[in-house]
Amino acid sequence: MIQSIAILCNDSSVQTAAELLAAKLQVPLVLAQSPAVITDYDFVILLDDAGVALQQTGRKAPGPIRAEFTEGAVDHRRKFGGGKGQMIAKAVGIKAGCYPHVLDATAGLGKDSFVLASLGCKVTLLERSPIVQAILSDGLARAVDFARAQDPELFSLLQQMVLVAQDSSEYLVQLDHAAFPDVIYLDPMFPERQKSADVKKDMAAFHSIVGKDEDADSLLPLALAHVNYRVVVKRPRKAPFLNNQTPSYQLEGKSSRYDIYTIKKMPDQLNNT
Ligand SMILES: C[S@@+](CC[C@H](N)C(=O)[O-])C[C@H]1O[C@@H](n2cnc3c(N)ncnc32)[C@H](O)[C@@H]1O
Repeated sequence: MIQSIAILCNDSSVQTAAELLAAKLQVPLVLAQSPAVITDYDFVILLDDAGVALQQTGRKAPGPIRAEFTEGAVDHRRKFGGGKGQMIAKAVGIKAGCYPHVLDATAGLGKDSFVLASLGCKVTLLERSPIVQAILSDGLARAVDFARAQDPELFSLLQQMVLVAQDSSEYLVQLDHAAFPDVIYLDPMFPERQKSADVKKDMAAFHSIVGKDEDADSLLPLALAHVNYRVVVKRPRKAPFLNNQTPSYQLEGKSSRYDIYTIKKMPDQLNNT
């Protein structure tokens, strides 16, 4: 779990935002330093002209982690990815005319949600970690600014993504039947992932601050009780079932798999946008 962390502000134009975030997270604020020379904290949340990032400190630390939607892997996947043929699309039940409202109950840095929104779904993103919330909402806000000026298609896609800063269990228990999502998507941290060689070095910091999501099993029965059509669980390929519960069926990829728990058949036509 998280060791020691501070807010690092390296741009006076965002100092007020940095002060507010430090107060909200109740962590110290450090001004104008290179993360490479900081020794008092293991991590900093860096605010500068590029946005909000999680950064490990020290000379050999990997680069900052941001939620990035306008460049890099997720942007490339939106433009050149496999569309509705992707495993995640099949798992969620997306097909021509059928675009379910997905509640991503473990939003993280929003990559899977962004893929689902780019495939035509309305997505509600739930994230409980205040640090991850700060990074994700910054990434979404920067993407909206960019898209408003330069990319109308991306802009309308981003309008389909709504971030709710709340624990999913708390959110789900108070959900009225009329507001049930069509699909609930779960991708909790898997404990063994942290030891795995698959964990990219640059994501190690993310794993350190989020921890192991030890309560993940309890999300499955709650999700099954508050959804219209199905719950989709993303797991490492060899991992046991969430909550030891056998799914209706599975889709298996190279390193991960989707366990699909069906409540009832998805209709041929579904559009929430
Ligand atoms: C493995 S990450 C998800 C990665 C995400 N699928 C993506 O594509 O970026 C798991 C995230 O779920 C969040 N999380 C776990 N349990 C949660 C809960 N009960 N409510 C809200 N967020 C939760 C964690 O804080 C963490 O950020």
